[in-house]
Amino acid sequence: MNINQSIIDRAEQLKAKLQEASYAYYVLDNPIMDDTIYDQLYRELQDLETQYPSLITSDSPTQRVGDKLDRQFNSVAHNIPLYSLENAFNFEELNNWQNRWQRQIENNPNFNYICELKIDGSAIALTYENGIFIRGLTRGDGVMGEDITHNLRTIRSIPLKLNMDNPPPILEVRGEAFFPLEEFNRINQEREKNQEDLFANPRNATAGTLRQLDPKIASERKLQFFAYNAYILPENNCFDTQEKALNFLQQIGFLVNPNYQVFADLNQVKQYLDIWEIDRKNLPYMTDGVVVKINQFSLQNELGFTQKFPRWAIAVKYPAEEMTTTVEKIIVNVGRTGAVTPLAIMKPVTLGGTIVQRATLHNVDRVRELDIRVGDTVIIRKAGEIIPEVVEVIKDLRPANSQPYQMPSHCPECDSILVRPDNEAVTRCVNSSCPAILRGSLIHWASRDAMDIRGLGEKVIISLLDYKLVKSIADLYKLQDFEIKDLERMGEKSAQKLITAIEDSKKQPFNRVLFGLGIRYVGAVNAQILTDSFQNIDNLIQAKKEDLERVYGIGEEIANSVVEWFTIVDNIKLINELKILKINFQSDNNSNKTDQKLTNKTFVLTGTLPTLKRNDAKKLIESAGGKVNSSISAKIDYVVVGEDAGSKLEKAQKLNLKIISESDLLDLLNNN
Ligand code: IVH
Repeated sequence: MNINQSIIDRAEQLKAKLQEASYAYYVLDNPIMDDTIYDQLYRELQDLETQYPSLITSDSPTQRVGDKLDRQFNSVAHNIPLYSLENAFNFEELNNWQNRWQRQIENNPNFNYICELKIDGSAIALTYENGIFIRGLTRGDGVMGEDITHNLRTIRSIPLKLNMDNPPPILEVRGEAFFPLEEFNRINQEREKNQEDLFANPRNATAGTLRQLDPKIASERKLQFFAYNAYILPENNCFDTQEKALNFLQQIGFLVNPNYQVFADLNQVKQYLDIWEIDRKNLPYMTDGVVVKINQFSLQNELGFTQKFPRWAIAVKYPAEEMTTTVEKIIVNVGRTGAVTPLAIMKPVTLGGTIVQRATLHNVDRVRELDIRVGDTVIIRKAGEIIPEVVEVIKDLRPANSQPYQMPSHCPECDSILVRPDNEAVTRCVNSSCPAILRGSLIHWASRDAMDIRGLGEKVIISLLDYKLVKSIADLYKLQDFEIKDLERMGEKSAQKLITAIEDSKKQPFNRVLFGLGIRYVGAVNAQILTDSFQNIDNLIQAKKEDLERVYGIGEEIANSVVEWFTIVDNIKLINELKILKINFQSDNNSNKTDQKLTNKTFVLTGTLPTLKRNDAKKLIESAGGKVNSSISAKIDYVVVGEDAGSKLEKAQKLNLKIISESDLLDLLNNN
């Protein structure tokens, strides 16, 4: 269709006006246009574009929500690798960092620090070609990222077109996508209403949203983006300080977190850290620390990078958050080994961005030590960021009529008497047909590091048990879709999917099967060692205690536990039944231990590795004859360091241990 110049001009004007209005609204938070006017102009542009499709450009405001991807994301190489940051947990560690980088510099340079809040979301890399947004990637392993352009386009604070004349051929922008807390709460409330699983925290919600195939979902959940890095390629020498780069980002249309500040020395930085440790709680988004960067790019370039981190920046992390709440109930949970764990059920509170209602009390001794009672006001803390624990009972706030808590003498699930073996902290239910044990065993069997059966989570397992559809692990493999399609939240499609996932799990290797059986002390690592040494289940069943103890890495406790497990008739029955169902009880012969490159070498793994799961790295090391320890000591040969490595890395550095990356480890395994 013919299109005259006045229509082209009109469309251009509309795009520019709508872009300006949306920038004022989403970035400046200072609307310049009434919503209804915006809608009218938007519709006019949309109509023109429908009539003359050649008017549609990728930077048009109508093009934020595109079509659903029909397959998984593409892996794309980053223009510049994305490094992560070293962590400091206190001022002393920050000082050490300063000493370290200053030692590396010849003469005392003029410099200052720029402090930025560390936003807790997902790191994102955006590429603009000639001023147009063409691609956005996740961090991935830092070298390759996943192409999530379709979702990033829906974020209103990411400009589709830069606000500048003569844009550079390539501009690379880095920043953090995140959920404002209000939006995060709104989404979770909606999910609760729809009986969907809640997002644990805004960071997970961000990652989960950015990984959706359908951009409509991201568009409905209003994500935001703070930009913090700009690289004008190829030279990247346009700014002399980070402060100027931030100003530039702001000018060309990005949302930059306004709370950055420049300081002359660490004493001033400390004041900033102290202030934000308190004030961050009033921000409408989550932060998990402050990033301290050297402001001058000349000095940044001189310092360069280690394997993983820039030497010119460090993240100062705030300590785990604590909150007070009150205890409503104290219950005990029975796990798959029969271990009984006391839990405090509390008035829900938000702790580090997560809603927390349960906290572990570990064991009877801890309960006694705390003297925790129903009605008590307690301080809870997130240990290791995930499982909250009760750290203190504020006795002064105890209600007058409170009673000391008595651990139950009988199992809350099967009513058999609980026992606490001598020398053990743990109390147990020893009734092997206790429903809690079966439930726990099924959950463990289906779990990620065992048979990894997607869709078979705790809730589904509880339904299966409630309706008496399964009475053992073997029964899972006899389920049919018509039996489960009417379970709560199931339906025909999910039922079919679940049956397929269960069937597919028969392909899992023997070591996962052995781990899945849940023999005490046989974790993923020991399962790997045992399956490597004994090759098949029959050899393992026949193995005597001495045979087991002869295997490197298997001690008396493990050997006893394995032998004992196979003496139980029901366990042998289960194995036989699983054999008939074609569960894999045979090691893959290729994994025979022909090369033992790491014999007598001891490793510690710390932080998140770029590609290997922690357990996989362990297995690789062990299959090459090496050992993996959990704590740092002078005896360790190598410390494999990943992202967010914390105190172990520090300790290793103090002991002058050999610190290597995942790729160094792979080199050791391949070439030695
Ligand atoms: S600078 C080369 N600045 O923190 C250094 N990172 O491990 C690049 N983050 O997930 C990072 N706010 O996305 C920098 N103002 C900020 C940040 C920030 C959040 C995140 C980053 C990454 C992690 C670093």
